[in-house]
Parts: sequence; C-alpha cells; structure tokens
Amino acid sequence: MNFGVLPLPNINNITVVGSGIMGHGIAQISAMNGYDVILRDIEERFLDSAMNKIRWSLDKLVEKNKINKQQSDKIYGRIKPIVDLKDALVDTDLLIEAVPEDLILKKKVYSEVDQFAQESTIYSSNTSTLPISEISQLTSRPERFIGLHFFNPPQLMKLVEVIPGARTDNSIVDVGINFVKSLGKDPILCNKDVPGFIVNRIFIPLVHEAAYCLESDGKSMTQIDSSVKFKMFLPMGIFELADYTGLDVIYKATVEMYSRDKKVVNPHPKIEELFSSGKYGKKSGDGFYSYGDKNYERIPLSEEEAKQYDPIRILSVAINNAAWLISNNVCTKEDVELALKLGMGIKKDLFEIGKEFGYEKIINTLNQLQERNGSFYAPDPYLKSFSA
Ligand code: 3HC
Repeated sequence: MNFGVLPLPNINNITVVGSGIMGHGIAQISAMNGYDVILRDIEERFLDSAMNKIRWSLDKLVEKNKINKQQSDKIYGRIKPIVDLKDALVDTDLLIEAVPEDLILKKKVYSEVDQFAQESTIYSSNTSTLPISEISQLTSRPERFIGLHFFNPPQLMKLVEVIPGARTDNSIVDVGINFVKSLGKDPILCNKDVPGFIVNRIFIPLVHEAAYCLESDGKSMTQIDSSVKFKMFLPMGIFELADYTGLDVIYKATVEMYSRDKKVVNPHPKIEELFSSGKYGKKSGDGFYSYGDKNYERIPLSEEEAKQYDPIRILSVAINNAAWLISNNVCTKEDVELALKLGMGIKKDLFEIGKEFGYEKIINTLNQLQERNGSFYAPDPYLKSFSA
C-alpha cells in the first residue's frame, strides 16, 4: 500500500528515535507508505504507549474506510519497537530524530547515534525550533543532515517543512524533499534556518498573544477561542491548540526561539507557569482547559461566543510575523499561505483575512501595542504595501 509517490529506491529502513506525539505519528505514516520502521525509545513503557496510539489511529482510519483491517494490521506489523539503540540503527537508511527540544539532550542522543549508525545513514531532525546548523554540528555528518519538521497530528497534517543547515549537501535536500513526497505529504523549503522556521514563527507567538488578551480583555477562554476559530478560520481555538500541541513543547520552543531572537515572540508568563506546574495540556489532563482520558477530545466552541470578541490583536501579530518571513526571504507569500493551510489547517488565506479586518486597523493595533509593549510589535515594512 502506498499513499504517497513510491518509497525512495535508496531508502527502505527508517529509524525514528523518540516515540512521543510526533515520533509515533511519523513512524506510522512512514509504515503506511511502505517503509520498514524501527521506533526507538529509552523505555519499554514509552514504546507500549506509542504502539497503543498507533493502533488507535489505524483503527480510526479503518472506521473511516481510509484503509481496511488487513492493511491496518500490515502497517502495524511494519513498525518494530526497540529500546536498544545499537539494534535500532543496524540497517537504517534514514534516521528521524524526534526527541524533546533540548540541545543538551539532542547532543547526548547524537553522540550515541554516531557510535552505531552506518556511514551511509542520513540524519534528519523533527526539531520545531532549534537551528538545523547547530544540531548538525553536534554530529559526525553535517553534510548529510536535514531538518524535516512535521506537524501534529503527523497522520493528518499534510505539511513538512524541509530545512537545510549551513553545511547540508544539495543532494540531501533533494532526498528530504522526495522522502516527504513519498509519504504523500507536501514539502515546503525553508530558505533560512531561522528560529521557528515558517509555521512556528507564527503559531508560538499567537499562544502568548492570546494569553495577554485573556489577561487584559475580560473575556473567557472559549470566547477568545471561538473568535479565533470562526473569525480567523483556524480549525481549533488557540488555547485548545496549545493544549493539543503540549505546553511543554510550546514552553521549550519559546525559550529556544526567544534566546536566539527577541523579535520572534513576546513571552507571557502563563506559559512558563503552566509548564512548571506540570500542566502540559491534553497529554497531562490539564492545561488551559481540563481533559478526560480519551485519545482525542475537542473543546466546544460556537459562533455565538465568537461574536463576543474581536481577535484583532491576535490576528495582527500573526500577520506581522508572516510579513517578517516574507521581508526576510525565508519564504514567499504563497509558501506562507500554503504552510498555514497544510500545517495548521487554516481555511482562508491569512492576508485575505487581514484585508477583511482592514490593514489600517491592523497597523494601528500594532503601533499601539508597540508604544505600550516594545519593538516586538513594530509593523513589518511589508505590511505598508497593503495599507497604501
Ligand atoms: N489519527 C487518525 N484519526 C485522527 C487522529 C489521528 N492521529 N487525530 C484525530 N483523528 C480523528 C478524530 O478522532 C476525528 O474522528 P471522529 O470524526 O470519529 O470523531 C477526526 O479525526 C476528525 O476530527 P475533528 O472532528 O475534530 O475534525 P477536524 O476537522 O477539526 O480535524 C484536526 C482535526 C486535523 C486535528 C484539525 O482540528 C486541525 O488541523 N487542527 C490544527 C492542528 C494544528 O494546527 N497542528 C499544528 C500545530 S503546531 C505543530 O505541530 C508544530 C510543532 O513543532 C509545535
């Protein structure tokens, strides 16, 4: 069975290191597209939980007639959970590292991987915010190293950002792009190795901005979330999405991005507070909202509640960071729009939504925020072309 193009001729065996939300999903879609996959984690119990999630997801796909039961069993059988790293790397053509966002941890993982991987193995990282050039320098093969950034849930989101590091060989960029296509996903090349790449440069600051709005605007979380869903056309509210992604992921991404570039996000203390108290969102049962123990849960949001709030401040920050990406040649306007559609499920072009709200209003909002809160909010020069 193959949902993508075809497995790449030189890549048969994949090892995914790290079996969390992203790792298990990447293992699953690789197996769904014909690859033999080893899923590696440091303890059996993490792998058991990952395999249960894969089984749940495959059952959902059977329920929806996307695959049949026989195919589901075959896919499941293609994924081998292994704890021993040496065994996990014996025959690997492509390593996909998906361990938590911590450079010290990644350094440890790559120094171990380097002991056992074959010379021909290509390394890739699903890092969401750490610079590919920095991680690749921790390995024996920066030329054969590429960023492949998937989106949650990897089983459903079509986007993969492909990020070359400073020393990545062009042939490896091609392999990365073709591998993504072979998974039936859409690669978007990130021309510069900037903090947050494309989508997280927009998504992470939005969570913080929504927290400022919650603090200052006297509205409830579901009112703000409903306005984001029904007026900004995101499939989830922003607090809902933060919980779904994980406050641990968002907090670590914030720290990494902010330490490298103060212009990328205006951190709100609520994120650190939730992280420090173990409220990671859906996965821990508590975050902005509280959850039961179902695999997948949604927050009820409504058009009625959306009428109670104008998300102009949240929208303005999203558009300003999108404009920054274009001004700085990280990607084109078309790529930003496509990335937001495929990576975050946004149902309309962001700059079109901006037009409906009015660019004069957006620039005024940013100017006021800049006066009160500093240069993070300074309107990007690219926006001026919209208000002219
Ligand atoms: N596998 C299979 N099925 C799944 C699934 C999975 N992993 N996850 C959810 N589903 C199923 C649900 O159970 C549901 O089934 P049901 O109809 O039987 O209840 C079905 O998919 C559809 O779910 P919804 O009714 O909730 O419908 P949506 O149309 O809203 O689709 C969604 C769900 C695709 C998750 C959509 O809400 C979405 O796109 N949300 C935004 C996700 C996003 O922004 N991701 C990126 C975050 S940033 C990131 O990942 C980067 C990182 O570096 C931080």
